Amino acid sequence: MMGASCLRPDTLCLCRGPIVPGVGLAGQVLQELGVSFLGVATATMDKPLVVITDFVDDDLCPEKEILGQLAEVVALGATREEQLVGRVEKAVALVVYHAIHITRQTLERLEACRVIVRAGVGFDNVDCAFARERGIPVVNVPDYGSEEVADTALAMMLALVRGVQLMNSRLRGGERPWTYQLAAPVWRIRGRVLGIIGLGRIGTAMALRGKALGMDVVFYDPYKPDGYDKSLGIRRAETLEELLRQSFVVSVHCPLTEETRQMLNGRTIEMMPRGSFLINTARGAIVDTSVLAEFVARGHLAGVGLDVLELEPPPEDHPLIRAWRDPEHPAHHRVIINPHAAFYCEEGFLEMRQKTAFACRRAILGQPLRNIVN
Ligand SMILES: NC(=O)c1ccc[n+]([C@@H]2O[C@H](COP(=O)([O-])OP(=O)(O)OC[C@H]3O[C@@H](n4cnc5c(N)ncnc54)[C@H](O)[C@@H]3O)[C@@H](O)[C@H]2O)c1
Repeated sequence: MMGASCLRPDTLCLCRGPIVPGVGLAGQVLQELGVSFLGVATATMDKPLVVITDFVDDDLCPEKEILGQLAEVVALGATREEQLVGRVEKAVALVVYHAIHITRQTLERLEACRVIVRAGVGFDNVDCAFARERGIPVVNVPDYGSEEVADTALAMMLALVRGVQLMNSRLRGGERPWTYQLAAPVWRIRGRVLGIIGLGRIGTAMALRGKALGMDVVFYDPYKPDGYDKSLGIRRAETLEELLRQSFVVSVHCPLTEETRQMLNGRTIEMMPRGSFLINTARGAIVDTSVLAEFVARGHLAGVGLDVLELEPPPEDHPLIRAWRDPEHPAHHRVIINPHAAFYCEEGFLEMRQKTAFACRRAILGQPLRNIVN
């Protein structure tokens, strides 16, 4: 669970700092954002209920600063949907992180819900279609961590392509010689093709980073209108195959949908050039990770960086996890796995919580919602 202690309250948390009498710091923030303060004044004893289902279960300082006078905020810290029974039915706003799935079983029981806020970008863990059927808008928080996810994809790419991961891992395991030969061959990055799947917020940020390194950036995104290739000075691939066949590095930045589920699998990864690299910071199930250890072991992929997996945490008997743990496995040194952390930095995490609380606030006050995804 993410705790407020990991934030830096001295500099960031709204609970600290000077409060103007009669308005409060939250009021100041609201006024700065042009949000009416009237709703707070009319809050009654019978406050609307905001329920945070999962992931965050600390003192709820950021949420209470924004919603405290207007609503009662409760965090359940659930890890399974069944744990929500009897605890969410009266919620006026439901906040969902990524540690739980919200299916029709929960949605059917909501009696007063005006909004479901996916505190994050991807909304594949909420049955958005059924929520729409029930007239409940689902909104996400799309922009709190776009740069951090792109920075993580870049970090994974550089660590793999420059041999940093390989040399560090081999040396620590006692391998020699103590020279560059541990990672050879390493190829120059400038001029190499960086293939981006999904040119949205994060994909675009990654494209800019690739350009800064002098890479030849290509993207595949069938839903992007014409012109982004020109405005960004990158190239467009018309098909996934066209992108994969030319990419030295593939970085995945599309959402998980029925169309993208296992889009990168044994057949499509085979299309990538021998010795290329695969990075996924989007959603685990976009890649069939069960084939990756074998692709790396036979040198078809020179390295893999994953921030996300189909199941988080993964089962220990998963073939990739076994290879990643086993120093004797030929893929061992060439795989980086992170615990779905690409979004994370202190500032961004606080911003996500605040923006989530503001989304609840808008729904409670009957104001127009932003970032509706269903
Ligand atoms: N690892 C993390 O911590 C973390 C944090 C935030 C977001 N994410 C994930 O990153 C991904 C991108 O987020 P974003 O904010 O850039 O989203 P976005 O909606 O701005 O961009 C997604 C892009 O993917 C494109 N796309 C949709 N279907 C596609 C397909 N079949 N093939 C190729 N492209 C397709 C869309 O047209 C869009 O341009 C999402 O999967 C999100 O869940 C991960």
